[in-house]
Amino acid sequence: MARIIDGKLISSQIKDELKAEVNKIKEAGGHICLAVVQVGEDPASTVYVRNKKKACAYVGIESSAFELPETTTEKELVNLVEKLNADTSVNGILVQLPLPPHIDEDKIIRTISPDKDVDGFHPVSVGRLWIGEKGFVSCTPAGIIQLLKRSNIEIAGKECVIIGRSNIVGKPMAALLLRENGTVTVAHSRTKELKKVAKRADILIVAVGKKQFINSEYVKAGAVVIDVGMHHDKDNKLCGDVDYEDVARKTSAITPVPGGVGPMTIAMLMNNCVETVRK
Ligand code: GUN
Repeated sequence: MARIIDGKLISSQIKDELKAEVNKIKEAGGHICLAVVQVGEDPASTVYVRNKKKACAYVGIESSAFELPETTTEKELVNLVEKLNADTSVNGILVQLPLPPHIDEDKIIRTISPDKDVDGFHPVSVGRLWIGEKGFVSCTPAGIIQLLKRSNIEIAGKECVIIGRSNIVGKPMAALLLRENGTVTVAHSRTKELKKVAKRADILIVAVGKKQFINSEYVKAGAVVIDVGMHHDKDNKLCGDVDYEDVARKTSAITPVPGGVGPMTIAMLMNNCVETVRK
């Protein structure tokens, strides 16, 4: 039987550890403040932002919300980010994506100071990750490393196959697994013989963004499968990029959706916020 990797449990353990750490920081006179910026009213973003603020409150991090109208100009958003960069009472800055189409996301990401880049999206953070320097790491892949480590799944020497090459998940995932001494392959939509490539994996990370795309034909018996996807199935229930029922019986361990990777992203965001004040 496959072991179910309980992301909800692991994320709450991490948040409790952070809460204790934040308490100590506060006792020593410190404080942590995350600025959360949302432009427009994308319903999914509103839910994410609400959950991030809730996690901040739980851990003891102050959150400062900036809810801007859809009509906000790029210049106005740049000005706000620059103001937050200069504000010494703000430790981390998170600009919720996606931004309205008239705003250049790359420009906004590059405006955030790398010292406050708790999303780990700034090119400086990405560069630091690839050369093994200390810096902020994108939260979802960082959360996946925690899921593996805290489930005692060895990464060193393992065949790790990532399906998906996004800047937020696939690429930083590759850097992190490499840092943990995995042998890493990044597959994507142009990969030939994807089933054959995926079947090499001891650890298969699926971030394709296609509902229940990966079935048991892509999975080696005994592999560990991590599902980054989040969709609604035909009955409107949450499901992932992996056909869970079909794949689970073939694996040694698997993350469910919901309750796998999802909760880890916010836990790692909280960790990055605490990181802004760690010595
Ligand atoms: N939109 C979806 N996921 C994320 C995330 O991790 N960070 C930000 N800033 N926006 C997002």
